[in-house]
Amino acid sequence: MKGIILAGGAGTRLYPSTLSVSKQLQAVYDKPMIYYPLSVLMLADIRQVLIISTPEDLPNFRKLFGTGGEIGMKFSYAEQAAPNGLAEAFIIGDKFIGDDSVAMILGDNIFHSAGLTGLLQEAKKIKKGGHIFAVHVHDPERFGVVEFDRRGKVLSLEEKPEKPKSNYAVPGLYFYGPEVVAEAKNLRPSVRGELEITDLNRKFLKRQELDVTVLPRGLAWLDTGTHDAMAKAGSYVQIIQEMTDYNIACIEEIAYHKGWIDQKILDKTIKKMGKSSYADYLKRIEKERV
Ligand code: G1P
Repeated sequence: MKGIILAGGAGTRLYPSTLSVSKQLQAVYDKPMIYYPLSVLMLADIRQVLIISTPEDLPNFRKLFGTGGEIGMKFSYAEQAAPNGLAEAFIIGDKFIGDDSVAMILGDNIFHSAGLTGLLQEAKKIKKGGHIFAVHVHDPERFGVVEFDRRGKVLSLEEKPEKPKSNYAVPGLYFYGPEVVAEAKNLRPSVRGELEITDLNRKFLKRQELDVTVLPRGLAWLDTGTHDAMAKAGSYVQIIQEMTDYNIACIEEIAYHKGWIDQKILDKTIKKMGKSSYADYLKRIEKERV
């Protein structure tokens, strides 16, 4: 399975912080935001990842991750020239996806829970159709919204409805079979001029090829849309890391535990991280493993 991280958009709601640095590169407590969605793909054992961003921001992602070798992964990069919608990622990623199935995660979506790996391993079994998630929120009108009947069957999917039919939002993590590329190419832009992921999911729903898993209680899906939300996300990470004594989304730790990198490569990263608490954590991880 291949992975895509879509890290586009102007991030206007975070101006002036995002005037010169992309939203997905801003720090959420002790690391860039994109580390969090990247760690989700890693936990799903996805090692080939395409990062899609704007022509202005893409060079910074390249600078941050390079080939991906430092975490035993293989990164590719592609531009999204204009904000034409989430579903365009599959058209941009056509060659990269090839005949594989694909997971896409939005570069500003942070997920955290103890049981996340199990959910991901289940979703990645997909060979055909789509697998998405639903999460209970108090402000569904800001998101894609799923409506269920009493038995949990999906009745409808709507993008940012004025009158949401439920409190279940669709978070930015999607799994598809390889046919998603052709399906995305057949989409027409919505009234706001974008190729909507919700329209793509509707197609699969119509054909009864869409699985929707409701995320369990205790799973945190963190908002990063506003300055307040960013500050809260940072506090969440700080508190969880301190209270559990383990870091969230430490990509080198995941790679090391999975055996994707050896101690030599980890040592290099530790040196690179200077006098940061991030470096201290990596030193501890290395010592505990030995
Ligand atoms: C996008 C999708 C929406 C989804 C959301 C999750 O919205 O269009 O369906 O619920 O991501 O973060 P955006 O925030 O890009 O407007």
